Amino acid sequence: MIGSAPTPPELLEIAITVARDAAATAHRMRAEGVSVAATKSTVTDVVTAADRAVERQVLTALRTRRPGDAVLGEEYGAGETGPAADGGVRWIVDPIDGTVNYLYGLPYCAVSLAAEVAGEVVAGVVRNIATGEEWTATAGGGAWRDGARLRCSAETDLGQALVATGFGYDAGRRAHQARVVAELIPHVRDIRRMGAAALDLCLAAEGRVDAYYEKGLAAWDLAAGGLVAREAGLRVTGLSGRPPGPDLVIAAPPALFEPLHTRLAALDASGGP
Ligand code: IPD
Repeated sequence: MIGSAPTPPELLEIAITVARDAAATAHRMRAEGVSVAATKSTVTDVVTAADRAVERQVLTALRTRRPGDAVLGEEYGAGETGPAADGGVRWIVDPIDGTVNYLYGLPYCAVSLAAEVAGEVVAGVVRNIATGEEWTATAGGGAWRDGARLRCSAETDLGQALVATGFGYDAGRRAHQARVVAELIPHVRDIRRMGAAALDLCLAAEGRVDAYYEKGLAAWDLAAGGLVAREAGLRVTGLSGRPPGPDLVIAAPPALFEPLHTRLAALDASGGP
């Protein structure tokens, strides 16, 4: 299959089918009852049986449809498929983004699945497990939700901006992030911490929040939602022209980008543990 050069719309079609089935499994498992199966980086960084089952299902589905592709997933890493060959496709999956919300039955958790070609994310889908809302994007093809094309917020005043963010699981990192938020909140309309980075990026894509930033995102938190946000007109970068990544992700409409970036740089938002 490698070298067959699938187009972004073809990859998106596969992603949507796989993500819908995955979300259905997560939804069913939630209804049957959920508990913590293991912890990862800290005791509050949990994994449920559903995280594992859903990622396995996605791996199997992708292997059936695209046997030569690589897959990077939150629970199993890249170990099972190896890296993408030159020009090959790599899928990036977060089986349940917002695992803590999922555990508590809060309707803000999602399956996130993206396809990357030559290091560029070209197709992505984020599907809310609880509500069925679904955001999609292809590189150059726009961002969409339920047939409607998305545009980011037209807000121009940081003081009027509703800004979403999130916190890591490590206590030291959280303490630093809390200090940044404490200094930022007097300068924005308000802050939202809803608990699923992929969904935060999708809400920014349709102006349901004006902007988003967070330190510590992994590739699977960012891949699909980051494309949706970019295709909706947000600038999605790190600090000082760096690419978005674990150090920092800022997603802001063009008019809000500079003032938000300036504040975050002054507050050393990419610093700390
Ligand atoms: C987490 C969520 C959360 C964000 C964390 C992520 P997970 O992902 O996206 O909103 O603040 O940085 O790790 O653990 O629920 O997949």
